Amino acid sequence: MTDHYQGFTATAIGKLVVKNLGLPDPTRLERYTAGAPLVDGTIVVGGSGRLAGSLPGVLDTLGIASTAATTDGSTYKGLVFDATGLTDSTQLRALRDFFTPKLRSLTTCPRVVVLGTPPEQVRGAERVAQRALEGFTRSLGKEIGRGGTVQLVYVADGAEAAATSTLAFLLSPKSAYVSGQVIRIGAHGTTAAPEVADWTRPLAGRVTLVTGASRGIGEQIARVLHRDGATVVGVDVPQLADELQALTKELDGDWLALDITGKDAPQRIAHHLKEKHGGVDIVVHNAGITRDKKLANMGEERWDAVIAVNLTAPERITRELLEQQLIRTHGAVVGVASIAGIAGNVGQTNYAASKAGVIGLVDSLADELPDGITINAVAPGFIITQMTAAVPFATREVGQRLNALAQGGLPVDVAETVAWYASPGSSAVNGNVVRVCGQMMLGA
Ligand SMILES: NC(=O)c1ccc[n+]([C@@H]2O[C@H](COP(=O)([O-])OP(=O)(O)OC[C@H]3O[C@@H](n4cnc5c(N)ncnc54)[C@H](O)[C@@H]3O)[C@@H](O)[C@H]2O)c1
Repeated sequence: MTDHYQGFTATAIGKLVVKNLGLPDPTRLERYTAGAPLVDGTIVVGGSGRLAGSLPGVLDTLGIASTAATTDGSTYKGLVFDATGLTDSTQLRALRDFFTPKLRSLTTCPRVVVLGTPPEQVRGAERVAQRALEGFTRSLGKEIGRGGTVQLVYVADGAEAAATSTLAFLLSPKSAYVSGQVIRIGAHGTTAAPEVADWTRPLAGRVTLVTGASRGIGEQIARVLHRDGATVVGVDVPQLADELQALTKELDGDWLALDITGKDAPQRIAHHLKEKHGGVDIVVHNAGITRDKKLANMGEERWDAVIAVNLTAPERITRELLEQQLIRTHGAVVGVASIAGIAGNVGQTNYAASKAGVIGLVDSLADELPDGITINAVAPGFIITQMTAAVPFATREVGQRLNALAQGGLPVDVAETVAWYASPGSSAVNGNVVRVCGQMMLGA
């Protein structure tokens, strides 16, 4: 389950072949290690608007060095531009003026974040200018190179103080495989949002349910949430109970072996969380399956199994936990969708329907959840796991290269994104679907 091509490009002969044939040359992405500083270098801040004044202080809280002035010959880890002050299209020129002279002074795996105002919150010329930011950031994401990522964060009026956890995620190596995304931070739950006392363990004291925790992406989600301080309750099918038990034992957590499609599974999960933990703070619907076939050959069993595991079970479990009021104040529900649910995929009508349905679940509940509970989804692209190891070689190679970072992601990349949603500091991040896809070139 390693990326053999990337390994080859790192060899002397590989470098020669890549250069002469003009083949993709993926940069080895930096990833976060526990205890390391969030950002290894200085971030240049610029622009003018609702956030510019507070940005240096916010970054300082996170232990991130920042500067407003660059000096010739120095290198920088990232750029943050406050574009909330742009009120008409002629002012977009400020983007060029800020970014163009600085792009060549960025180190490997640089981070770029543009902050804007949600276009739907403003009118006329200001709306036009704010909407234009999306084309700018998505294009810069495709050309920045060297493992760099670029995001647009729309911060609602009144939610300025709630951007800290999102900046921590997007500026750090935790967002290694997230690029070209548009994230919305709303006023949801900002008033009584809990303070994050320790940014290295934001989930301390929180109970987390992770379905499909025995392996792959689910296992990494369990590990990262544990690293961030959470007590993990893992769920997986009885056939993988040994792996589940070993993992949760290692993480000082708890486990429940059941098939989430079982008739009484939601009630059994609710009962377990109530009796053993008095409730739950974070619910991660990770368990998922594929049963690919073109629709013309799609048997009932393939269709039913995929919809039942990927969509109906998360819906039923969420509903049961809400009805029994077991999700605590400022809790978080996280769905695991897929880029197939956004762009579609040959042979995956069942899977893509189920994953688009997960996005529908986010949409339908985002404005309805009580007590500042949030719901968001991650939509992974090509992530190297046992699920994708089953994909035929040629399709797998193409799938891995057709993104701005020219490589597949790792389960930890999805896990870090889930951890960002789960943080109490993200209580104003609600209703988002963030793709963890290295900015896939095709489809969405
Ligand atoms: N790997 C990728 O590239 C990729 C891309 C997009 C989305 N995803 C999604 O990410 C999630 C995890 O994928 P993965 O690659 O780690 O897959 P995986 O097959 O390695 O792991 C999935 C886990 O879910 C469990 N599971 C399946 N059915 C279950 C059921 N009925 N009850 C309880 N547990 C069940 C499995 O036993 C397994 O442990 C899935 O929802 C998948 O659709 C993965």
